[in-house]
Amino acid sequence: MNHFLDIHLTAPQDLRQIIDSAATMKEARKGRTRGAPDDDLPLEGRMVALIFEKPSTRTRVSFDVGVRQMGGETMVLSGQDMQLGHGETIADTARVMSRYVDLIMIRTFDEAVLTEMAEFATVPVINGLTDRTHPCQIMADVLTYEEHRGPIKGKKVVWSGDGNNVCASFLHAAGQFGFDLTFAGPATLDPEKEWVEFARGKGSTIEIERDPQKAVAGADLVVTDTWVSMHDAQSARERRHNQLRPYRVDAELMSHAKPDALFMHCLPAHRDDEVTSEVMDGPNSVIFDEAENRLHAQKAIMRYCLGV
Ligand code: CP
Ligand code: NVA
Repeated sequence: MNHFLDIHLTAPQDLRQIIDSAATMKEARKGRTRGAPDDDLPLEGRMVALIFEKPSTRTRVSFDVGVRQMGGETMVLSGQDMQLGHGETIADTARVMSRYVDLIMIRTFDEAVLTEMAEFATVPVINGLTDRTHPCQIMADVLTYEEHRGPIKGKKVVWSGDGNNVCASFLHAAGQFGFDLTFAGPATLDPEKEWVEFARGKGSTIEIERDPQKAVAGADLVVTDTWVSMHDAQSARERRHNQLRPYRVDAELMSHAKPDALFMHCLPAHRDDEVTSEVMDGPNSVIFDEAENRLHAQKAIMRYCLGV
């Protein structure tokens, strides 16, 4: 049994195997309707709990559909509707849930909820986003990059905007998959030093640059995300917008990257805040492939967790 808690906590050879298995499973489904089962049904007889303490469209639907395509069953639970949201400990919740289900995916606020769940569950636990990281998203992003452009190893990724949870998982992936990353954003919103050091320790070149145009020079991939995440205080909205406006990804900024540079955004996007519609809907954007690839990447993650 394997948990999938974060990219830096998963061995590089396992991450590679997950990406390759996702690509194979995606290819095998070509031409099928979304609801049609896969040829293999490795989750037959398995029950998967999807727990959400924050809103979700992609994570919720892609996990649910992915489990069903592999022959399993799901239950989608809101943290607020569970006793978890009313004082039952995470440890007790984990032990109880493990008596009913074969796999738990949780989206939560504090990372400690995820780690405690994993410590006390006797079934695998998957991180569906915390305030600090979003590993399933970046597995989908690596899959997306590689299906468009080949190996991501040695490429230059530029993150323009808030050094948030999605950026953190990109830094983990830089270290584990061997690509370089330049962060462009204001100093107050820098990514966590610990993650920068993790990637550098693995041999990746990680640069922190205040000038977005300089940052994107030579980029193979430009990425951004919302300026106000679900865990950020709404009262900080105006300040964040003012700080981050110079880092908006627009056609002018993209013109400083390599001509074939891809654009990614995990979505949901705030059109014409962090990225213009022109870039989102432009020829270099692969945002909807990214969204689709959540499904394929997570199916491979669940197989890895269950060893099936
Ligand atoms: N990208 C992502 O995780 O989207 P949702 O919040 O809709 O799940
Ligand atoms: N950084 C965003 C990602 C949403 C998928 C958030 O945490 O709200």
